[in-house]
Amino acid sequence: LPVDTFDLVIFGGTGDLAVRKLLPALFHRFVDGQIQPGSRILGVAREGLDDDGYRAQIRAALNGAAESQPDKLAAFLKLVGYRPLDARKDDGWDDFAKLLAERPGNVRVFYLSTSPELFVDICQRLGHYGLNQGESRVVLEKPIGHDLVSANRINDDVGRVFAESQTFRIDHYLGKETVQNLLALRFGNALFEPLWNAGHIDHVQITVAETLGVEKRGPYYDHAGALRDMVQNHMLQLLCMVAMEPPASMSPDAVRDEKLKVLHSLKRIDEGNASQLTVRGQYRAGAAEGHSVPGYIEDLNSTAKTKVEKSNTETFVALKAEIGNWRWAGVPFYLRTGKRLAERVSEIVVAFKPVPHSIFTAAAGPLAQNRLVLRLQPDEGVKLWLTIKHPGPGGLRLRHVPLDMSFAEAFGAQQPDAYERLLLDVVRGNPTLFMRRDEVEAAWRWADPILAAWAASGEAPRPYTSGTWGPSASVALIERDGRTWDEDN
Ligand code: BG6
Repeated sequence: LPVDTFDLVIFGGTGDLAVRKLLPALFHRFVDGQIQPGSRILGVAREGLDDDGYRAQIRAALNGAAESQPDKLAAFLKLVGYRPLDARKDDGWDDFAKLLAERPGNVRVFYLSTSPELFVDICQRLGHYGLNQGESRVVLEKPIGHDLVSANRINDDVGRVFAESQTFRIDHYLGKETVQNLLALRFGNALFEPLWNAGHIDHVQITVAETLGVEKRGPYYDHAGALRDMVQNHMLQLLCMVAMEPPASMSPDAVRDEKLKVLHSLKRIDEGNASQLTVRGQYRAGAAEGHSVPGYIEDLNSTAKTKVEKSNTETFVALKAEIGNWRWAGVPFYLRTGKRLAERVSEIVVAFKPVPHSIFTAAAGPLAQNRLVLRLQPDEGVKLWLTIKHPGPGGLRLRHVPLDMSFAEAFGAQQPDAYERLLLDVVRGNPTLFMRRDEVEAAWRWADPILAAWAASGEAPRPYTSGTWGPSASVALIERDGRTWDEDN
């Protein structure tokens, strides 16, 4: 269904996220007929570009996707414009406000795809011109701050201009098809929920592995690191979707209340236990996807203004989290994420407990755990690993095979990018898949003591060769508990 006509302003409009993700997502929704002609998409950044210069950038970025549909591309680019603005200078803001006033009936969305230090300046200016009034929404990209204190400051300052109901804190992992599918799978089937607890689940693994390095984002990344960049937001959100109680409905607050309870139940990791429960790593030179690649420091120095010889920033984290409530007591949630790992794969593995007693002889082969594997990317799908008899007359031999549902095979079409769904949800005013302020705060409250423990220990992240699965200490973390990372789903 088409959404209401809107004006979408992307601050940071020439940045990587806008060009590589947001504009392509909007183009796909336009091609599908969901964006109506009265809508406008305005890139805003400091670069002195004009509309045509910006359109040329977007055209280049869309080329692959739009090659076969030049008419659609031309029509889409007509909706796109550009304004050079500096959040910290007055120039151009009057005209910008006038431009937006031209279409008072449009829903207004301000997407802040900038460094969080600019959020407050931008919001204050929008407030000054009354652009926060009526059907106006603001989208905040992660990370919201770099710890609880800075997140609170941002949320307070933004909150003076935009009400919580107008504020959409985006975590694009919540827009991924498989993540939404977790809700359908858990709460649309009678099969899983009775088993979804410490009585039947042995442990959960969440892996988000990337083959890319920090690319051109070194200056941002070196201040963040993997815990702030991936774990505090994306991975905790995935953990919440697995662990939350059934919400009473799909209403935004019903879902977010349940996620919040999970975040509040996470057991504290701090100086006392961080060295047993967490592993940090940093990539060195190696190979990724068949090419030799430099290490993190070389990557950093390729974009940094001042060169560095070392950095204490982690590009890999593995950790063991626990949720202190009745449903999950004693069930470890192993999380790991990193750059320049062996494969690009994101998945959630729910490993069930073994059967209580085996009736089979040793000759039948070992009994393996049932596992439910939700693959977020690439090749989205769901697999349920079962034990069956190997067919044929050769006696009873057990085999472990998956019931395998690939989204591409089952539904044909390519899966939409997460941003497609989420951008339109903002226009519709549906915040279910966005983080409420208290969720962000609870996530920082858990992450801060881990960061403090690492800082206090003074230990450098462990080196790992690009193209591997991270430092060997990550394997030791899970093997100490008699378990292994699942790498062949
Ligand atoms: C972003 C992180 O939020 O997510 C990046 O800042 C990371 O460092 C990216 O590469 C991963 O997203 P996806 O959708 O490619 O898994």
